[in-house]
Amino acid sequence: APAEPFSVRMPVPPVLRPAARLPGCAIYHLTMREAPVEILPGRHTTVRTFDGSFPGPTIRARRGETVIVRQTNKLDVPAAVHLHGGHVEPQHDGHPMDVIAPGDSRTYVYPNRQRAAALWYHDHAHHLEAENVYRGLAGLYLLTDPEEERLGLPRGEYELPLLLRGANLAEDGTLIYDATDVQGPDHGTTLVNGRPTPYLPVAARRYRFRIANVSSGHAYVLKLRDGSEMIQIGTDGGLLPEPVRTGAVSVWSAERADVVIDFSRYPVGSRVYLDNTALFGGETRDVLRFDVVREARDDSRVPERLVPLEDLGPAATTRTFALSFDLATGRYLINGAVFDPDRVDARPRLGVPEIWEITNSDTRIPIPHTFHTHLEQFRILDRNGVAPPAAERGRKDTLTVHPGETVRIKVRFSTYTGRYVFHCHMLEHSAHAMMGQLQIEP
Ligand code: C2O
Ligand code: CU
Repeated sequence: APAEPFSVRMPVPPVLRPAARLPGCAIYHLTMREAPVEILPGRHTTVRTFDGSFPGPTIRARRGETVIVRQTNKLDVPAAVHLHGGHVEPQHDGHPMDVIAPGDSRTYVYPNRQRAAALWYHDHAHHLEAENVYRGLAGLYLLTDPEEERLGLPRGEYELPLLLRGANLAEDGTLIYDATDVQGPDHGTTLVNGRPTPYLPVAARRYRFRIANVSSGHAYVLKLRDGSEMIQIGTDGGLLPEPVRTGAVSVWSAERADVVIDFSRYPVGSRVYLDNTALFGGETRDVLRFDVVREARDDSRVPERLVPLEDLGPAATTRTFALSFDLATGRYLINGAVFDPDRVDARPRLGVPEIWEITNSDTRIPIPHTFHTHLEQFRILDRNGVAPPAAERGRKDTLTVHPGETVRIKVRFSTYTGRYVFHCHMLEHSAHAMMGQLQIEP
């Protein structure tokens, strides 16, 4: 990698300021445009941005308060902005075929009638999403609610986003996108909030990290190099029912992990390394170094009970989704087919729980896939018949299906009717049409 590890300080993406506020509603304006940013020290890299920021600015929202985002596309390619994990009407979902042409604008409405969660927004234009997201079109969207605020978790300067991704950077800073790269186009340097393997000065107290994997295909299995415990308190769709004390936190493409690390166990002057130990693709080990630089007061808590899971009720229907890669044609398939915008693959009924069996039967070329459905969070029931690890027993919207694995989930669409997509979130796969459509029926 063309940068010494731990030579740049970790930035925090700016929080987007509303253009206007109305009662119960905040209005934001974002412009998608190319911009030069500094990724490698002293070099300029041209990336695709929301408002010049790489990654995009963080949008902070409150449950029950509508967020309206006017997106203007000043790129020379179409874009569609999807709020990943959001419960939104179909015309505001950033459907892959529903793009903003270069020069046009579009207003998306996010009602935020869902639990506190780390959502994220990113491009979804069909066939272009992998490159658009790789080149920078991704940002965090933190939705909060009173239930979460009451818990006393670390906040303010002690609650920080960690947007993880890989990047293939030339010596001069050029961001190389090679869709044919067998290690994945994003292999190379690990970026945290847009900078390579940075360091972060911290106080000797608890921090809450809102981790999001915004890479095209990278996996991160995060461990502290000294083997110390982390506390995972949340996953894709919000807080877990109870904290999970663990030595390893996994986030595959598009997954989020809400993690508390207590630095009070380290004396001031300590350096604490966060490593990636995933063995898939071209990952590097170094991710982030925490430099414990001062003492600080800490009145935050991690309660033993967080947010209970609601009962989804008994399922009435079972569907199967087989994920595969066809060696002969080089195509990525769901139930033997690629995406066809004129075909509906499943018609779930509003309010009726379903079981989905998602299979990755490919063992000749062992490729994991990350299955994601729009519009609703689901529960993982089991993996090959075995209950999932504790950190996966929450509200999920993306899951990894390893080669040879069958994962059963329960999902109940309970908000809007209309057309939405589900797909593999390894973006090279979805860009190659590894995607299907749902029509949510009344
Ligand atoms: Cu991150 Cu179709 O989504
Ligand atoms: Cu895939």
